Amino acid sequence: MIGLFERLARPFLHALDAEEAHGLTIRLLTCAPLPRPAADDKRLAVRAFGLNFPNPIGMAAGFDKNADVPDALLRLGFGFVEVGTVTPKPQRGNPRPRVFRLNADQGVINRLGFNSQGAEAVLRRLARRADAGGVVGVNVGANKDAADRVADYVRLIEAFAPVASYVTINVSSPNTPGLRDLQQAAALDDLLARVIDARERVTQQAGPTPVLLKIAPDLSLNQLDDVVGIARSRRVDGMIVGNTTVTRPAGLREVKIAREAGGLSGRPLLPLATRMLAETSVRVESAFVLLGVGGIDSGAAALARIRAGASLIQLYSALIFRGLGLVSEIKAALIAALEREGLDRLTELVGADAASVTAEPWPQ
Ligand SMILES: Cc1cc2nc3c(=O)[nH]c(=O)nc-3n(C[C@H](O)[C@H](O)[C@H](O)COP(=O)(O)O)c2cc1C
Repeated sequence: MIGLFERLARPFLHALDAEEAHGLTIRLLTCAPLPRPAADDKRLAVRAFGLNFPNPIGMAAGFDKNADVPDALLRLGFGFVEVGTVTPKPQRGNPRPRVFRLNADQGVINRLGFNSQGAEAVLRRLARRADAGGVVGVNVGANKDAADRVADYVRLIEAFAPVASYVTINVSSPNTPGLRDLQQAAALDDLLARVIDARERVTQQAGPTPVLLKIAPDLSLNQLDDVVGIARSRRVDGMIVGNTTVTRPAGLREVKIAREAGGLSGRPLLPLATRMLAETSVRVESAFVLLGVGGIDSGAAALARIRAGASLIQLYSALIFRGLGLVSEIKAALIAALEREGLDRLTELVGADAASVTAEPWPQ
């Protein structure tokens, strides 16, 4: 039913401005009577940072920024949902238009700039569903006008720890000026020290809340050395690799739209995101879990990301072009890969190709 509805609705949604189409999709999901999905094949289950994921496919941050529809997304078959980015105070983000589809490239450029209803509104929604189960992480970011950005992250950890399955520290959005500077060694070390300290303080009431770090795919390998070293010494629970890219890979067909400012996602990001995941994996040496994001648009791409080192994956842009059927398509492809290789668990494939991917020529 969902598949049929989607096939009929997609041309209509694509005729709308990208952000309007997104708003309409959220409204539809808010009221759609979705049945509980069939249980996932046990071989797809993943245990990571103390949480049980029924399957490794997550909805990436940015789709459900204000936690309007996490349960609808879980019912559509996602193994977990990351809501946000949430900022402490509400803020509008950049002027519209600020989301652009690159249809011929199956890519998206956005410069939303953390449009958020703010922590209070999101907290209220998550508190209402606190007993509903399922893995729902919260991605947090600083307000654009924050005098002390680190204090914003600390406040958000304290606020969301009681209701979030995990919290992601987003220092990689290209659309808040200066935010990505928090990935520089001294700044990142201070940020993570204070964030982990805040997590320890609230653990007594909230229980242990895993803290993940989401990085940009545009870091140099020297910067990545520093980031991984600091993340290891500060004992984060995982890293998400990564956010949108400010680069414009060679060969984009939508030349005019590609000149729009903002972060690029979707298929053109796939080679860089896979490579950065593998580079991260060989540096992390299984000290913590990696989540692979960026351009995953097929079962083969999902499998390649897992083999490059991801225990879990997330998607967003491909859903715009391929629809929600992609989630079950990826699950079927992963099961087929396990059967082909005679394995019982997906986790056995994690990182199998990390080293060989890092030996390939750098993606253009
Ligand atoms: C419209 C849009 C909004 C996004 N907003 C956020 C956000 O608020 N926070 C965040 O961490 N990532 C955000 N992202 C990045 C995605 O979570 C993801 O890292 C990136 O798009 C790469 O995955 P994809 O190629 O599957 O889309 C956004 C992406 C898009 C396309």
